[in-house]
Amino acid sequence: MQQTEMIKLIQSHRSIRAFTEQKVTDAQIESIVESGRWAPSSNHVQAYSIIVIQSEERKKELAKLAGNQSYVEECPVFFVICADFYRLQRATAKHEQPFEVGAQEQVLVGAVDTALVAENMLLAARSYGMGGVMIGGIRNDPEAVSKLLGLPEFTFPVMGLCIGYPAQEPEQKPRLPKQAVVHYETYDASNYEETLAQYDEITARYYQERSEAKRVDTWSEQMSRFFATTKRPHIGDFLKKQGFLKS
Ligand SMILES: Cc1cc2nc3c(=O)[nH]c(=O)nc-3n(C[C@H](O)[C@H](O)[C@H](O)COP(=O)(O)O)c2cc1C
Repeated sequence: MQQTEMIKLIQSHRSIRAFTEQKVTDAQIESIVESGRWAPSSNHVQAYSIIVIQSEERKKELAKLAGNQSYVEECPVFFVICADFYRLQRATAKHEQPFEVGAQEQVLVGAVDTALVAENMLLAARSYGMGGVMIGGIRNDPEAVSKLLGLPEFTFPVMGLCIGYPAQEPEQKPRLPKQAVVHYETYDASNYEETLAQYDEITARYYQERSEAKRVDTWSEQMSRFFATTKRPHIGDFLKKQGFLKS
């Protein structure tokens, strides 16, 4: 099949966590956020906001809140992409209608809208030769992140995005085999034993041979460690406080 420039860009993805001193211009930042704005949105609600952060002080604070992820501080521009229904409350109030965002559905809608915006932004940045990494670590302490950024009710920070010119060239991290993730017509789990074993071999080799942070590991071991504990148990209460998950 023809490898278009867009397909090459998408399929050469790797997260970048080290950046050169090269500045990202204001025009480039505008173009990156403009690309985020053109993401599709469920029912056209556009339930997101993008916070552009270049202040060294604020990046430093966010790096700490994200679990001491130094690249949040070191990247030239950091974006926090939030699910945002506050503007929708303002819009609906104009028409004296009830405002119902308490169902779990709205959390999904906000998270999906936000993710589509973020990936558009990352791809736009990459088209300029930049790179970046998404940062879920900002949900470690969403309360403090919201306070720092002045986020109102009916919003929640979903992810950060570090952007800048790459100072590293990491190998691509192998993905699950196609047979494990693509199903035709109906869901088919019959190959999982074989494909997971195959993927463990591939990832073991990748972790041992990659140029940075080599280790002895496999994907299934990594996942079994990861899922052995509850992640970010505070999120439910935080979302309730922000006006979500009422029902
Ligand atoms: C929503 C989201 C949140 C993420 N959060 C972090 C993070 O906090 N810190 C980090 O170093 N990488 C983070 N990542 C990057 C993933 O670790 C990375 O995408 C994954 O390991 C695959 O590697 P690759 O992107 O280089 O292919 C995040 C990715 C996504 C999509």
